[in-house]
Amino acid sequence: MSPNNLLTISQLKKRLNKLPRLNIGHLPTPLDYCKNLTKTLNGPKIFIKRDDCTGITFGGNKVRHNQFLMGKVLEQGFDSYINVMDWRSNNARLAAAFCNLLNIDYHLVLRGGENKPIQGNLLIYNLLKANIYPQKSSEAEKAFEFARNLQAKLTSKGKKPFLAQDQAYSKIAGILGYLYAAIEIHEQLERIGCSEVHFFSVVGRSLAGLALAAKNLGFPWKFTGIEITKEFTPKEYVFNKDSVGSVVSLLNLPQTINENEITVLDAFVGKEYGDVTEDSKNAVHLLAQTESIIIEPNYTGKALAGLIHQIKSKKINSNERIIFLHTGGTPSLFLYNKELIS
Ligand SMILES: Cc1ncc(COP(=O)(O)O)c(C=O)c1O
Repeated sequence: MSPNNLLTISQLKKRLNKLPRLNIGHLPTPLDYCKNLTKTLNGPKIFIKRDDCTGITFGGNKVRHNQFLMGKVLEQGFDSYINVMDWRSNNARLAAAFCNLLNIDYHLVLRGGENKPIQGNLLIYNLLKANIYPQKSSEAEKAFEFARNLQAKLTSKGKKPFLAQDQAYSKIAGILGYLYAAIEIHEQLERIGCSEVHFFSVVGRSLAGLALAAKNLGFPWKFTGIEITKEFTPKEYVFNKDSVGSVVSLLNLPQTINENEITVLDAFVGKEYGDVTEDSKNAVHLLAQTESIIIEPNYTGKALAGLIHQIKSKKINSNERIIFLHTGGTPSLFLYNKELIS
């Protein structure tokens, strides 16, 4: 152990390498300087970590998550996968993609998926030949009931289905993926001679993984996470014993994190999950016009809106170095054509 109860990078790598992990995806992703965006906002230097470029089926953070999750699914001998997700879900898209690559049957129970336009992620689930069960209601409990019946049916036919929402590993794989990403980013920062950075992203497992790595490796990194839903709090989602706590025990990490160590901004959600706000719409336009990089208005648009707000209201020092984590989700853009151009 290195001083002050920290880990070295090789110690962390060694612990992660004991877990099953699939080498699927295009990594490392670029870390690019956003010269035009920085100039336009007249604030701190902004870099972008292009995790929209992870390579599989439009990429996104879920490629890193599924490297670990699907590694576990294969290790445990599951031959089918049941996923219960919102009808716009990026998770549902990447799970479908990994299942195709691994020859695992994929069953997708889509909350609120009845009579929705075959566009965005829903179009891609169809192209990937997912077995889709669109639900009228978006209520989680009803969809889980449907999924558990489906699980029983498949089991009675001799299959071994992995019902993602009932599996503890689903809550930690994303964090594991971003422990690895932190090492990748650290190497990229070393190359450009920069160590103190401030990350902006949607608050979730990915950002929590980066923060957990930074704490254990002693990196001088700061974090701001933007909320995109009112359905659950960051504590209910990730900063709890089943998620961060479980990773800490699994890897026997010397340090943990809680949500107070991340600045959480909750003013950018709009009315509810999926709402396109004026700020997120403007953020999508601004990044396209300055850097020719496409984000969508539900996740990454809201995260960038949070960053723009913090810069304009002088909450960020101009000598800070910002990394905007692009977590992907770009196919959803096409659902919001009317709102984005109105
Ligand atoms: C594009 C995108 N960004 C960020 C998130 C945030 O959550 P997490 O880091 O837990 O995946 C999600 C969740 O589905 C997402 O789809």
